[in-house]
Amino acid sequence: MYKKTLLAAALLLSSCQSNNQPVPTASEEFTNERLLFDMDTKESRFPCKVSGTIPEWLSGVLLRNGPAKFQVGDKRVEWFDGLAMLHAFEFSSGQVAYKNRFLRSEQYFIMMDEKSLNFAGFAQDPCPKVFKNQISKEIPDKMKGIHNADVSIQTYADQMVALTEVPLPVVFDPQTLETLGNFQYQDKLEQGQWESAHPQRDPVTEETINYFIRFGRNTHYVIWKMQNREDGRTVIAEIPVDRPSYMHSFVLTEHYVVLVEFPFVVNPLDLRDKKKPFIFNYKWEPKRGTQFLVVERSSGKVVKIKGEPFFAFHHVNAFDEQGKIVIDIVTHPNANIINVVTDQPEDQKSIEESETTRLERFTIDLAKEDITRETLFDETVELPRVSADRVANDYQYCYAVDMRFPTTLQAKPALYQIDVKAKTAKCWAEEGCFPGEPIFVKRPGGDRENDGVVLSVVLDFAQNRSFLLVLDADGFNEIARAEVPHPIPVGLHGLWNGKN
Ligand SMILES: [Fe+2]
Repeated sequence: MYKKTLLAAALLLSSCQSNNQPVPTASEEFTNERLLFDMDTKESRFPCKVSGTIPEWLSGVLLRNGPAKFQVGDKRVEWFDGLAMLHAFEFSSGQVAYKNRFLRSEQYFIMMDEKSLNFAGFAQDPCPKVFKNQISKEIPDKMKGIHNADVSIQTYADQMVALTEVPLPVVFDPQTLETLGNFQYQDKLEQGQWESAHPQRDPVTEETINYFIRFGRNTHYVIWKMQNREDGRTVIAEIPVDRPSYMHSFVLTEHYVVLVEFPFVVNPLDLRDKKKPFIFNYKWEPKRGTQFLVVERSSGKVVKIKGEPFFAFHHVNAFDEQGKIVIDIVTHPNANIINVVTDQPEDQKSIEESETTRLERFTIDLAKEDITRETLFDETVELPRVSADRVANDYQYCYAVDMRFPTTLQAKPALYQIDVKAKTAKCWAEEGCFPGEPIFVKRPGGDRENDGVVLSVVLDFAQNRSFLLVLDADGFNEIARAEVPHPIPVGLHGLWNGKN
């Protein structure tokens, strides 16, 4: 998800694509002069060239989400504010077909039809002084009120939705990738203004759980659960908060929801005044420490335990263990990474420090109100995933990627399988290739946690195209790849929508 990383590939790709220039030499370093590359819609499916052998049992669709258009004329938006594109890799009988489609949102209309960047986003605000184009036409009804949901994909009740941090999930057809409209909640819950794009799904109860922030004179974190669409959401807890934290994700255990409240906080009044883009209103206040808000799922009772200051985008997993709560998180030392991903000026030392992550385990002893902290894996990783059936349960394997900026064509950013019990890892890497978020798919009937395959969309910036990598999750060896004849911008998150 890191812009500097994507920047490298994008820079090289735009260079190769637009001018037919020779591929840069291995010693040529990437620079920041060109950023993210735009992509065309390819709505009809086409077959990928498969090398190796894709297991016959692998039947379903890998759905991916991420920004794929950033430029209008000579102006551009930041990484997180690019136009959402949905990608589908359909697996059937050992073959793979690919298609993609832009989400049809208000931002899509503004960028594609009005050729303007006049909209608010994560790091983007409409500013007439800079963006002189004004919207001259009415937004078409089919796009009205639909937000640019470019972060993740989830199943909400019986529907497939694209999510961002605006609490309006966008329903799409997983077959055609057509945008169908905002998800209609069947409840009267007063909505918030911000919501995590990483809802958790309990594999045992099949509940979807998420939290939103309702800003106002009295601001609250509101944690909700939903079993099915007809019954709508039920509130687990409403927690008053003075300075809400930016918490991109959270964790679930069998008995608890835990919000890890990093000391990267906002005064709600600053958001109301709308003087800055959303994320630039948040401030790093390490003296607050990191508050672990432990919420009992059955009662909504909240216990707050203070730990050391750190920051994170992504939690890995959590589970209950003999009266304790175990929480695994990919931690950053501070929130400077926000400046890196939004391309704010930073010195090199600060960039390197903020890009460096660790996979850490926090164990909460509720009786003692105490937290212990332990490093499980000290290589830099991001976009961690675990097997869907191990969410909120004890687990052994985490899949993640190194998202740091590759500086040369010889760079080999790694894709990892981390054994969190043995504290060891297996790795896949290939020169000039940048793997995206890994998703584990279990073999039907598989009894071991890693009995299946790992899928990752890899941007091959040396060859100027992308491919879908299929690894055997046991040995972590490549068993197949399905080539797309063009590059795909590095995406954010996805979902396996299996047929079996
Ligand atoms: Fe995320």
